[in-house]
Amino acid sequence: MIQISSLLWKAVILGAFFLWPGSTPGIKEFPQAEYDFVIIGAGTAGSVVARRLVEGTNNSVLIIEAGGEPSWISSIPLLSPSLQMTSADWGYKTVTQARAMWGLNDQQAAWPRGKVLGGSSSIYYLIHTWGAKQDFNDWEKKKGCTDWSFQNVLPFFQKSEAFTSRKKQTGHRGYKGPLHVSEFDASQSPVAKGFLESARDAGLDIGDLNGELELGAMPCQSNIHQGKRWTGFQAYLKPVLGLPNLDVVIETVATRLIFEGKRATAVEILKIPTGDVQHVRARKEIILSLGTVGSPHLLLLSGIGPQKDLESLKIPVVASIPAVGQGLLDQLNVPMYFHLSRPASITTSKVRSLGQMWNYFVKGKGVLAESGIEALLRAPMSQSSLDPALFLMLFNMGSVNADIFAKIANFKDDAFRTSFPDSHNDSKEGFIILASCLHARSRGEIYLTSSDPSVAPVIDPHYLEEDYDVKCTIQAMKLAARLAKSEPLRRLGVKLHLPDYSECSQYNQTMRDPRYLECWARTGGITGYHPMSTCRMGSDDNPDSVVDSKLRVRGVKGLRIVDGSVFPSQTSGPPNAAIVMVAERAAEFIMEDAVSDT
Ligand SMILES: Cc1cc2nc3c(=O)[nH]c(=O)nc-3n(C[C@H](O)[C@H](O)[C@H](O)COP(=O)(O)OP(=O)(O)OC[C@H]3O[C@@H](n4cnc5c(N)ncnc54)[C@H](O)[C@@H]3O)c2cc1C
Ligand SMILES: *[C@@H]1O[C@H](CO)[C@@H](O)[C@H](O)[C@H]1NC(C)=O
Ligand SMILES: *[C@@H]1O[C@H](CO)[C@@H](O)[C@H](O)[C@H]1NC(C)=O
Ligand SMILES: *[C@@H]1O[C@H](CO)[C@@H](O)[C@H](O)[C@H]1NC(C)=O
Repeated sequence: MIQISSLLWKAVILGAFFLWPGSTPGIKEFPQAEYDFVIIGAGTAGSVVARRLVEGTNNSVLIIEAGGEPSWISSIPLLSPSLQMTSADWGYKTVTQARAMWGLNDQQAAWPRGKVLGGSSSIYYLIHTWGAKQDFNDWEKKKGCTDWSFQNVLPFFQKSEAFTSRKKQTGHRGYKGPLHVSEFDASQSPVAKGFLESARDAGLDIGDLNGELELGAMPCQSNIHQGKRWTGFQAYLKPVLGLPNLDVVIETVATRLIFEGKRATAVEILKIPTGDVQHVRARKEIILSLGTVGSPHLLLLSGIGPQKDLESLKIPVVASIPAVGQGLLDQLNVPMYFHLSRPASITTSKVRSLGQMWNYFVKGKGVLAESGIEALLRAPMSQSSLDPALFLMLFNMGSVNADIFAKIANFKDDAFRTSFPDSHNDSKEGFIILASCLHARSRGEIYLTSSDPSVAPVIDPHYLEEDYDVKCTIQAMKLAARLAKSEPLRRLGVKLHLPDYSECSQYNQTMRDPRYLECWARTGGITGYHPMSTCRMGSDDNPDSVVDSKLRVRGVKGLRIVDGSVFPSQTSGPPNAAIVMVAERAAEFIMEDAVSDT
């Protein structure tokens, strides 16, 4: 294999940059004074809402984004992790966690969120999962979200996606939407094939976890199209950028909402490069799509939230809603490393080989054209249960580059080294299974310490504070270890690596000791990148909710929230596809209300 040096590799990548198509049309220097609709945040959800509100209509729409344009690197699927801690990331950190993140500096988790057109969907890992049917049925039945059952949301999943399957299409998916979904070709990867066969040996079905199976395993489905990232920005926003009724402003933050009585009528914005402050009015509605951190942050700055907190910061109260910023949910991932005795994984040397470069830049194929996540698995807590509880993701990465992976998670050196053995070896063969608990019960919070919009909010996820979360995470870890021991994976010379954390030295390093496993989860676990639920949707009599079933903010008029913050509970898998679905629906609510207004 011909491999090129790291320096030359960077030079080639830089060269590709100059050959890449030029910058984005349709971006305005300054907005007008007034629009029908003002959308704040051009992330996953904001991009969808903007597209649906402007295409084929006479609505005038402004979308405001704090970040800039996505870099060309963001289009290369395998390089997604390298986008964190760049200007495309807000670069949040949680506060020190008492019961988790022991292997991270100051026990603080790095908490990436996209700050760029496309938002977190411009830096995310591209996995496309709807969630289980039961998740949405629970939204309706248990959380009081009227008309959010699986039957209600299915048409919007289908509307959003363009699924290309390797097998015969069964017709339950969407095939003509803007969001491309491709399926990993497991026949090309002995590790993915072994993983899926092991899952089958363990009694799980292999099929489509999106809309078909509640439990089971499948080759990963990703928002990749012709070898490139294909998400919020590329799929939804870019195609409408030139339309005369859509204005986009970037590098501009919303700092406050302005109310006339109880009606939200305008947004105060700050243009970051120049410091200019301006007010933009919305004739019909303001839509908050700032994400799980941004939306509660702006509500609190604008006087909507727990009354006591607002008063202590001297923010005039517009509406007292105790649930704003509360009830934060996140999934915690435990990366488990497995050695491989055969060359079957992605390694830094392979990525840098001339063959792979040629494959990608000329043919749009090869390891760079994939996210590295090759298979997904959803299982119950025990054989007697039918509820999705455990989640495994196969990340077929053998050499775990410390410069990228230690940095983005905020790992301490020693904890990183023992989590990922031989990380200095660019040819190291192995893979990672990310083990997590889908419906963790620990609830966190986001709150302010200052009324100054430039001060980041405090993020406290309270990871692993509930016993259930520990039990469930350990079950997921045990399942991963069991799969690796079954014949289809063992054939490849797979061996689980047990990390030797100084934090856990009092326990025997064995899968049989639950205290060791608990300590491992508390030390090696990192964020699953899926924080949700800080502005939950719920029924009108539910004091725990911030928005109603049409996503309208309680107690005020002219204001809706459309993003991951409204999820009443976690979905059974990474949430991006479900956020797109919510935004597709919200666009219809918004149009219906605008018509009935006039
Ligand atoms: C590293 C990483 C990997 C992930 N991997 C996956 C995956 O593989 N699959 C999956 O389904 N999900 C994944 N996720 C989660 C997924 O990306 C997010 O849940 C989803 O993108 C959130 O969408 P959103 O619309 O709620 O918010 P975002 O997409 O975060 O959008 C919010 C937007 O608002 C902007 N904004 C915030 N505040 C302001 C302000 N004051 N003024 C103006 N603009 C503002 C932000 O800059 C951002 O563009 C991942 C996330 C990360 C960070
Ligand atoms: C937009 O406005 C034009 C001119 O008033 C009108 O002819 C057209 O039907 C409108 N389109 C829509 C979709 O409302
Ligand atoms: C690096 O890893 C490969 C594959 O696992 C192995 O063959 C090789 O000996 C390792 N090199 C070093 C220097 O450890
Ligand atoms: C570790 O294992 C050894 C040998 O099996 C046993 O004697 C010892 O008690 C164990 N230690 C702990 C802390 O469980």
